[in-house]
Amino acid sequence: MRQEKIWDADAAQRYDTPGTGMFVPGTLEPTVDRLAQLAGDGAALEFAIGTGRVAVPLAERGVPVTGVELSVPMVEQLRTKADEATIPVIIGDMATTVAPGTYSLVYLVYNTISNLLTQAEQVECFRNAARHLTPGGRFVIELWVPELRKLPPGQKATVWRTDSDYIGLDTYDVLRQHVVSHHFRYDETEQARLYRSPHRYIWPTELDLMAQLAGFELECRHGDWSGADFTAESRNHVSVYRVPTTP
Ligand SMILES: C[S@@+](CC[C@H](N)C(=O)[O-])C[C@H]1O[C@@H](n2cnc3c(N)ncnc32)[C@H](O)[C@@H]1O
Repeated sequence: MRQEKIWDADAAQRYDTPGTGMFVPGTLEPTVDRLAQLAGDGAALEFAIGTGRVAVPLAERGVPVTGVELSVPMVEQLRTKADEATIPVIIGDMATTVAPGTYSLVYLVYNTISNLLTQAEQVECFRNAARHLTPGGRFVIELWVPELRKLPPGQKATVWRTDSDYIGLDTYDVLRQHVVSHHFRYDETEQARLYRSPHRYIWPTELDLMAQLAGFELECRHGDWSGADFTAESRNHVSVYRVPTTP
């Protein structure tokens, strides 16, 4: 399953769901507030910008935003909302693609670092973020906490959401540290539509080590965008890494 195949024209068409899911104001507003605060007076670079779910409202706040994105159809969807002059996007892999300019903030949200399927690529992604940042600049990652505690020996799958029209389950390959998310959506005809995505899951401490390898220090970690404590029960985290001001 290559990322380009997953994020095709059909996925791009279906991605935006204004007002629901990841587009609910209660989800999006704290994200944009926090990113705007972290960008300060500088510019922001979004790795895997997608259809601009976060970049468009952040740019509307006055933060200059540039994007890197692998999928042309996702960027075409973004272009229905913002033109190239407003939000420039470089097509390429976030682990290696260099965008022009320097930034006070690079951000990579909605679990997307896990779309890189090897540890080496994930470390490269940190190095690529560092390459774009000014001293004191920040790299922000939003990621889920792997649900390994739900996986007794011999069991390979966990169900993480069940609604009347949706079932979400993950299948694990713990040797390779991979998980495939299976999203089953049911319509009125009772037919299920299946969408699957492969990920390499990362424990927060492994993420911190990747950051260290790229020269970052962990500034803070919270359980959500509003600054909730990160605890043993947190299902997600927002981690802020900083380039030291003195080497
Ligand atoms: C879950 S969407 C997130 C989009 C956007 N950041 C958001 O929060 O709505 C994942 C995006 O990552 C992109 N992507 C996956 N692997 C990538 C890579 N290696 N480099 C750049 N973009 C990538 C996909 O094409 C897709 O647009």
